[in-house]
Amino acid sequence: MSLPEEVSVTAVVDNYLDVFEPSTPLVERAVPGKLKGFLLAGHGLAYLVDISQGENKFSLLMDTGNAFEPLKHNMEALGRTPSEVDALFLSHGHPDHYGGLLGFLEWRGTGLPMYCHPDVFWPKYLMTPRGKVGPWKLERDKLETAGAEVHSNAEVQQLGEGVYLTGEIPRRTDFEGPMPGAKIIKDGEDMDDPLVDEQALVVDLGEKGLVVISGCSHPGIVNTIHYAQEITGNTRIYAVIGGLHLAQVSEEVLAKTIAGIKDSGTQLALTGHCTGFRPNTRMSQELGSTYAVSCVGSIATLTA
Ligand SMILES: [Fe+2]
Ligand SMILES: [Fe+2]
Repeated sequence: MSLPEEVSVTAVVDNYLDVFEPSTPLVERAVPGKLKGFLLAGHGLAYLVDISQGENKFSLLMDTGNAFEPLKHNMEALGRTPSEVDALFLSHGHPDHYGGLLGFLEWRGTGLPMYCHPDVFWPKYLMTPRGKVGPWKLERDKLETAGAEVHSNAEVQQLGEGVYLTGEIPRRTDFEGPMPGAKIIKDGEDMDDPLVDEQALVVDLGEKGLVVISGCSHPGIVNTIHYAQEITGNTRIYAVIGGLHLAQVSEEVLAKTIAGIKDSGTQLALTGHCTGFRPNTRMSQELGSTYAVSCVGSIATLTA
C-alpha cells in the first residue's frame, strides 16, 4: 500500500454557518440551492473525513456534534448516508463531540469500529464562573449494544497507510496550558481533567505534507502539529483543520499560537467550532489567504 492520494473533510456539524463565505482553492462552500435541504448550525463538531488511495476509499466520521438531530439533518442535506461510514473516531470525551454518537449508531443499524482514548468514558464536568456544568458520561454499554466495536488507544494508532490517530499528545510548548475548570471523576474521585484523552487525526500526503485534524485542541494546536510531525517523520504541514479552543486565552497566548501555526508552513488553516470569534478574526488578518473559517457544509479537499 502507498500513502493516501486525497483526503476531503466535510464539516457536518459546526458552530458556524455562513452561506456567503467565499470558496477558496482548497475549501468549497455549500451552495444552498444545490443541497437536498437546508443546513443547521449546532454547538459541537462532526467531520466526515473521506480518505482515498486509488480505488480504495475509507470514510471516517470524526465526532458527532452535541446532539443527533443536526448530525442527521445535515448529513441528509449534504446527500450523505450512514452506511457510507466505515469507522467512528471520537476525538475526546466532551459531550459536544459525542452527543450524536448513540443516535448515529442506531440510525446506521449495523456495527462499526469506534476509536477513542480509554478515558473518554469517565464522567466529566466543568467548574465555571457561573457554577458547575454537568456531569456528563458517555455510556459505553449503550454504544456497544447499538453496535460500536470499541478500540481504545492511549498511544499512536495507525488506521491505514499514512493515517494515524495520535494517542496522547505531549504538552511541550510553554504557552499551551490545561483547560481551566475541566474536571474528571476517575474511580469516584474528582480531579482536574488534564484531557489526555484528546487525540488528533493525521493524514500523511507525502511531499505535500500532513493534514492535521483536531477536535477541540485541548492539548494545544501547536503541540498537536509538532507531535504529528514526530510520529509521521514528515515535517511538512499541508492543512490544520478543527476547533482550537482559544476564546478565553490571553493576547500573548493567542499571538504565540498564531505564530506557531504560521511557522508550521501550513497552506490551509481551517478553524471553527470552539476556536472563538476573536482568534478566528485575528487568524484571518494574520494568516491571509491561507486562512478560512470552517462552516457547516464546507468541504476541504487536500490532494497529494
Ligand atoms: Fe468542543
Ligand atoms: Fe472539548
